[in-house]
Amino acid sequence: MTIRPIGIVMNGVTGRMGMNQHLIRSIAAIRQQGGVPLSNGDRLLPDPILVGRDEARLRSLAEAHGISRVSTDLERALAGDDAIYFDATLTNLRAANVRQAIARGKHVYCEKPLAMTTEESLELARRAELAGVKHGVVQDKLFLPGIIKLKRLVDAGFFGRILSVRGEFGYWVFEGDWGPPPQRPSWNYRKEDGGGIISDMFCHWRYVLDHTFGPVTAVQCVAATHIPSRIDEHGNRYDVTADDAAYGTFRLGGRDGDIIAQFNSSWTVRVYRDELLQIQVDGTLGSAVAGLRGCRTQDRASTPRPVWNPDVPNPIDFYENWREVPDSGEFENAFKVQWEMFLRHVAEDAPYSHDFYEGAKGVQLAELGLESWTRRCWLDVPTIARS
Ligand SMILES: NC(=O)c1ccc[n+]([C@@H]2O[C@H](COP(=O)([O-])OP(=O)(O)OC[C@H]3O[C@@H](n4cnc5c(N)ncnc54)[C@H](O)[C@@H]3O)[C@@H](O)[C@H]2O)c1
Repeated sequence: MTIRPIGIVMNGVTGRMGMNQHLIRSIAAIRQQGGVPLSNGDRLLPDPILVGRDEARLRSLAEAHGISRVSTDLERALAGDDAIYFDATLTNLRAANVRQAIARGKHVYCEKPLAMTTEESLELARRAELAGVKHGVVQDKLFLPGIIKLKRLVDAGFFGRILSVRGEFGYWVFEGDWGPPPQRPSWNYRKEDGGGIISDMFCHWRYVLDHTFGPVTAVQCVAATHIPSRIDEHGNRYDVTADDAAYGTFRLGGRDGDIIAQFNSSWTVRVYRDELLQIQVDGTLGSAVAGLRGCRTQDRASTPRPVWNPDVPNPIDFYENWREVPDSGEFENAFKVQWEMFLRHVAEDAPYSHDFYEGAKGVQLAELGLESWTRRCWLDVPTIARS
């Protein structure tokens, strides 16, 4: 068995996602487990260089995770011989960074949204193809145990004909002018900095829906800026210029006909459900409710028969007669699972479908969602051609 090091330029790892999910839970965890096993028995060991603006923060982060290389100069870091560039910086910085990395012949893996527009996302995809580098976008929700279980139910034909999908995502993000500090960065609430919940979440809904139930063929969306001003990281009040809640409806091309999907996405709701994301699927033969980890089902024969009667206390416990879908070892961190797939894709050409074209589809749905809100209409989702 040979240990094969693979260099990764990691940009944006002092941020929320970059640090927690990508550096600590993925790359550092893969290093701790001795690398990613390859099909010939070798192990691929990530050797990251952490890139950012604040050298002291980068150093302390690197030291905490046994990493020796840091840099505050992206251009110089990209001039080295690391094989991969990873980007988890702000969405509106991504395209320029990715172009620079491709020009240096790096394989590129990055956070969603891939870019600010569909056109720019496709331009990056074509650029990567022309340069012959591998490309990937984070589609982490697909690797959550709850979503994997839903997909298993779909593939097993559990639902019969799927009628509808209802997603409820969100929680209260504190405003910053009282009580607990805001739990999200302020740029999320400024359109000019790439913020907005449609741009943030519709990328996720696109791949979750496409991969689990059938391609999204049309969208209708109403959004809002419910909280007009918030306090930023420096204690200053700022105007919220981006949407903080989106109420979207999608038409999907299901295996047995159209499926209607509705997703509420909001940073301005208080949670009264089991998880921050909950998806209910109803079909002719059964229903399921999935969260991030768990998934419960009710089959046709176990369906209660409620009768509308507000004059008596509700006689049915609707939470009865649901069964937990068993785990099948589906508890690896979703980001780490995808990192391992991408690393194998780079090292031994293992199949990998979550590429820049897939990333462009997410951006496309967000763009169409915003347009539908502005124009107050349903919009068809054009097919994205790989070229
Ligand atoms: N996959 C997911 O579930 C998920 C969840 C949240 C965020 N994201 C995506 O991850 C990305 C980062 O989001 P976040 O919440 O971690 O943001 P964040 O603000 O916490 O982190 C942003 C990172 O970019 C760096 N940065 C900011 N301005 C910069 C500049 N001018 N030049 C260079 N670097 C700069 C910061 O230092 C930090 O490292 C976004 O694109 C976001 O859409 C993905």
